[in-house]
Amino acid sequence: MNQVNTPLKEAVVAKLRRLPRYTSYPTALEFGELDDKTYDLWLHELPAGEAVSLYFHIPYCEKLCWFCGCFMSVSNKYGPVETFLDVLISEVRQMAEKTGRLNVSHIHFGGGSPSILKPDDFKKLIDVVKDCFDISLAEEFAVEIDPRTVDRDKIMSYAKAGVNRASLGIQDFNLKTQEAINRIQSIELIEDNMRNFKDAGIEKINFDLIYGLPYQTLETIEDTIQKTLEFKPSRIALFGYAHVPHMKKHQQLIANHSLPNQKERQAQFELASKILQENGYKSIGLDHFALGDDPLFETFDQGNLRRNFQGYTKDKSDTLIGFGPSAISSMPNGYAQNVASIKQYLDKINLDTSPVVRGLKISREDKMFREIISTLMCYFEVDPLQISKTHQFEYDFKNEILSLNKLIDAGYMEMNGEAFKITEVGRPFLRAIATIFDQYFDQSSDIIDRCIHESEG
Ligand SMILES: C[S@@+](CC[C@H](N)C(=O)[O-])C[C@H]1O[C@@H](n2cnc3c(N)ncnc32)[C@H](O)[C@@H]1O
Ligand code: SF4
Repeated sequence: MNQVNTPLKEAVVAKLRRLPRYTSYPTALEFGELDDKTYDLWLHELPAGEAVSLYFHIPYCEKLCWFCGCFMSVSNKYGPVETFLDVLISEVRQMAEKTGRLNVSHIHFGGGSPSILKPDDFKKLIDVVKDCFDISLAEEFAVEIDPRTVDRDKIMSYAKAGVNRASLGIQDFNLKTQEAINRIQSIELIEDNMRNFKDAGIEKINFDLIYGLPYQTLETIEDTIQKTLEFKPSRIALFGYAHVPHMKKHQQLIANHSLPNQKERQAQFELASKILQENGYKSIGLDHFALGDDPLFETFDQGNLRRNFQGYTKDKSDTLIGFGPSAISSMPNGYAQNVASIKQYLDKINLDTSPVVRGLKISREDKMFREIISTLMCYFEVDPLQISKTHQFEYDFKNEILSLNKLIDAGYMEMNGEAFKITEVGRPFLRAIATIFDQYFDQSSDIIDRCIHESEG
């Protein structure tokens, strides 16, 4: 084993961009201009009778969290949200005119904060969705919740609409950290939320937690995990804080000196992961944990786990239709993304034009590499030749195997039969390792340098 720990030279770092999280492949970084006609053709070519998934992006929040990396806009008045909602409803109708009334398997509301919508407005939107799509057999209907903006009435309205999973943004229970990220929410508030969800019959609960936040230590992380365990959420996402102040200016409000270094971050993740697994949670992929009664647990064991824009999922559908600004649709023939600016989005829909501006056609080769990368991101191992066979796409993987062998020499990977498997030591480098198969990634840097780059954040 030949592990490398020398720091990277600046010239090498300059070559490496942020490593993708591979919630899609090719990643959104590769999208170019896409005209409406191509998009409409892809919609027209959707396989008849197959269920699709729907994603709704609600881009508004009441307050700014300084750590936030999401696409959102703060509005302390409800007027802009109401205006937006009417336009979103028009987009749903516009889409259904093109596709007809499709069957739906999964529904996800993300943001921003979907919980900003008033109960009557949520109902108004869902009534139109039900009119335009058949959601009667949808397996999962999930909503992302900012616990500070939800109340009993809203939660009851979710249950009435058919919501069966709620994803609560917890982040961290430590007050000093909460103050440093401008996101103060007491444990009593979470207890109140959980009671309301239980009363409403919404039993599948996710907690979003983050490590690597200001002032977090092993002690505070342990405390947050212990408090989390008392609530028994069926699923936990444990994200590493992505600090990108050059892209998200408000993150400059977070002092650099308050942030744990890379070694501390790694230790925080490992401690949290260990405690969760000791308490019955299965570690799933990069950053998810699930209890035995969560569908992700079984899906993982059956080898059916998939990765999409929301992270890990059991959703089998090959089509996801995205609504709202910046939302991405994924279809068998390609990806299409709505314009990100809320103003431009409103203008486009009001003019009855398509909000799609960017995207990418997917080739047969892309589909094969997508499955390879997704398998690696879900299971930490992959047999690329087997996948090329099932895709009937001949490819020798010569360069990829050279890089994989370097990782074997470094102790980051090993062989498991014909499959290349990431070792315990190599697990923190999952994203860097996945770049080996990314045909759009600049492959001129050495794979070991990419791993060091990932470990240096
Ligand atoms: C759209 S938000 C969830 C709903 C709601 N807005 C909230 O914050 O409670 C999705 C999740 O992304 C995660 N997140 C946001 N910014 C992040 C960042 N910079 N690094 C890592 N995770 C982040 C948070 O855990 C957050 O709960
Ligand atoms: S973390 Fe959630 S509530 Fe906070 S600003 Fe971002 S999207 Fe809004």
